[in-house]
Amino acid sequence: MCSLWRGSLLTLTSSLNRRVFQCCRQFGRSYNIASCMPEAVAFQGVSDHSGLYKFSVNESDRFWGAVARQRLSWISPFHTVQNCDFSQGKIKWFEGGKLNVSVNCLDRHVHTCPERVALIWERDEPGTEVKITYRQLLELTCRLGNLLKRQGVRRGDCVTIYMPPCPLAVASMLACARIGAAHNVVFAGFSSEALADRIRDAQSSTVITVNQGVRGGKVVDLKRTVDQAVQNCPSVQQVLVAMRTENTVAMTDRDVPLEEEMMKEDVVCEPVAMDSEDVLFLLYTSGSTGKPKGLVHTQAGYLLYTSLTHRYVFNYHDGDVFGCVADIGWITGHSYIVYGALCNGGTTVLFESTPVYPNPGRYWEMVERLEINQFYGAPTAIRLLLKYGDEWVQNYNRSSLKTLGSVGEPINTEAWEWYHRVVGDGRCPVVDTWWQTETGGICIAPRPADPEAEIVPGMAMRPFYGIKPALLDTEGEVLSSNDSTGALCISQAWPGMARTIHNHHQRFTETYFQPYPGFFFTGDGAHRSKEGYYQIVGRLDDVINVSGHRLGTAELEDVVNQCPAVAESAAIGYSHDIKGEGVYVFVVLKKAVMVQEDVQLSSSERWCPGASPSTPAQTSFRW
Ligand code: PRX
Repeated sequence: MCSLWRGSLLTLTSSLNRRVFQCCRQFGRSYNIASCMPEAVAFQGVSDHSGLYKFSVNESDRFWGAVARQRLSWISPFHTVQNCDFSQGKIKWFEGGKLNVSVNCLDRHVHTCPERVALIWERDEPGTEVKITYRQLLELTCRLGNLLKRQGVRRGDCVTIYMPPCPLAVASMLACARIGAAHNVVFAGFSSEALADRIRDAQSSTVITVNQGVRGGKVVDLKRTVDQAVQNCPSVQQVLVAMRTENTVAMTDRDVPLEEEMMKEDVVCEPVAMDSEDVLFLLYTSGSTGKPKGLVHTQAGYLLYTSLTHRYVFNYHDGDVFGCVADIGWITGHSYIVYGALCNGGTTVLFESTPVYPNPGRYWEMVERLEINQFYGAPTAIRLLLKYGDEWVQNYNRSSLKTLGSVGEPINTEAWEWYHRVVGDGRCPVVDTWWQTETGGICIAPRPADPEAEIVPGMAMRPFYGIKPALLDTEGEVLSSNDSTGALCISQAWPGMARTIHNHHQRFTETYFQPYPGFFFTGDGAHRSKEGYYQIVGRLDDVINVSGHRLGTAELEDVVNQCPAVAESAAIGYSHDIKGEGVYVFVVLKKAVMVQEDVQLSSSERWCPGASPSTPAQTSFRW
């Protein structure tokens, strides 16, 4: 399929509708960079945000070395800040250092504030939230770590987690980190085939799941999906099953009742000293080929980068309640619900439901009840909710809100303004955060910035500390002037970036470092405005972004081609009011097949509609 470049329209809308939003309240007027980032005292000549940004990119080793020493608890100190070479796809940070991620996310906070709430599990049923303190989360993690060890999981193994957002899912991730195993969280909405692919690629012998999930009032048989998946995964020896509902499910010899067995374990589990560059997790995402890639993130750099971005992009402070409504199965959940937030000793919400259950006031009722200070969501949900009208928002008290975040896809000006004016009552900065599974954490966002720095609707705007973006033209030349549009690349390494694709390092270098030698290529196009602000204009490769989720055209085509009637297919994205992009698939049918023309597929007949005799051969499907 040819490349998609749909950015010019976005750029135009944004510049036409350009309204500048000034914000300084969050910092107060007596601004001092060292009160914002204490390490800055030691950075010569740095007195404001732009000085700090310049220092972070020009003196990258000093910047990252200082924040890593200051903000992470090390078992042994690192000897080298970075050792990176884009030409080989070699990315190494903090070599020589040893640490344990779960200690950084739990133990050190248990020492200072054991009864602080770490997780608020916002269950599907409104008003039934469960709060878990740091002490309790450490206990859960240790019991689970001990159980995993008893079940034979060893340092370097990879455990697949197929669970909805819930405390045991977070404890499972942290338990892996504690004992030195990697995790591979698979979004618990994926099919058994997609799950099986990911289990096989990760070579997991252990899967952790729940009996059933509950979402939007509906019960989903997750264990059944796992049962189907593991039939085709010879590596799997055991499935640990937690009970989200009271309904019993069929258990086999391979299945282990998770709560029952973990309660037999000790609440102390010795953390393993991990090298900075040991694998923390794999996370599969769509690329431009039919096969999802297992991006690899490692320990220290990822943790540092997510905690720093969590602190400064959202202006998160001790005692705040951080409400990210993503699923833990995506990178947003990993970085900002779990690792960034917990590393900062934060209180973080795990949202199990949907934006419209039981009604379109769900988010805002939750904001009132949990007194959420930072709300982080997706444009697709904002676009959906604005259609239901302002009342659903205004019915609830949102005075706790301080920052509103957006992620996953471009946020159009109308949605941005509604979010700012109605949800935030015109007083909360809206941070449109651009990043990817590959970048590990937020790379471009309006904050941090100097107080009173403008925020332009629908623009990610400013690179984060240590991020040096570049725009390149089709000849591979760097576009150095402002008011230009090109392929968005990043010209130097940062600690949060992915290290490789699991088992496919060559694909990693080919995808990210070969298109523009000397640069990390993001796959996105961007416009740099006259003022030097960045606006993302969409994917340049064969990836379609539906509701903030990446779908490779080749992956879609692979699935459609499995239909026996289909000879060939081609998937493309089209502009969709709510989802950002929808998908059209054009198919050429095999000669002998007759179907109705212009079929619109329902979800139940998605891949292969019944061939009813009418006209032959070619048609297009939309869903
Ligand atoms: O195209 C960009 C889009 O989402 C892609 C990354 O998808 P994924 O790895 O699933 O991570 C999503 C959550 C970080 C990017 O290449 N994208 C993400 N954030 C934005 C965005 N597009 C425009 N504006 C954003 N703020």
